[in-house]
Amino acid sequence: MLRLFLDSADIDEIRDVYSLITLDGVTTNPSILAGSRNKYGSPLLALKVISKFVSDHGGTLHVQPVGTAYEAILEDAYYLLDELGKDVWIKIPVTEAGLAAISRLSGEGVNVTAASVFSFSQGMLAYKAGAKCVSVYCNRAEENGIDYPGVITSLKNAFPDQMLLAASFKDTIQAEIASISGADSLTLKSNVLFSDLNTPLMKNTVDSFKTSWLDAFGKDRIKT
Ligand code: G3P
Repeated sequence: MLRLFLDSADIDEIRDVYSLITLDGVTTNPSILAGSRNKYGSPLLALKVISKFVSDHGGTLHVQPVGTAYEAILEDAYYLLDELGKDVWIKIPVTEAGLAAISRLSGEGVNVTAASVFSFSQGMLAYKAGAKCVSVYCNRAEENGIDYPGVITSLKNAFPDQMLLAASFKDTIQAEIASISGADSLTLKSNVLFSDLNTPLMKNTVDSFKTSWLDAFGKDRIKT
């Protein structure tokens, strides 16, 4: 079955979504953490609360170091592992420095999600460096003329048993295409995840049922 993650660093939003549907965890990045509501005073304290919540619900939390140089990535990664525990997944963009960090951390048994993947070769290198998960960024790819369904399909064909997390969606159609293309896991922001519930088509459809009933019985309850 498809694994579903929430792309968020807002603990209230995370709790709300978990109260509605089953999730497999939470993904974040520095932009999400910097921009999210945080009543805990610091990103680290927020991450600690989120980490405990996600772990208590049997899921995984994927957190990205802020530094982009090899040493900086490792410094942040070890800090996150110390503060959040060994179960946190370290999310690392597949740059040259990132690949070296992925190789080093994976060799030490750390769970790594190779992120910001826009090509087959980036994903292949990340899997071969030991990453347990590769994350293809769909909308960012599409905006740059990259065939993200092709990237997903070719990676899934070559690494069928590895986790492939599709991310970065502007709408649910992109998520659907990613799933059809072979992604076994998706991460969506809350506003995209629930966007199909409030479309004009949904409102018109639901209203039309009620209108039929109202015309016939004069009230909007079955109970008499
Ligand atoms: O987890 C994906 C996220 O980090 C990137 O998404 O929406 O900023 O392209 P976005």
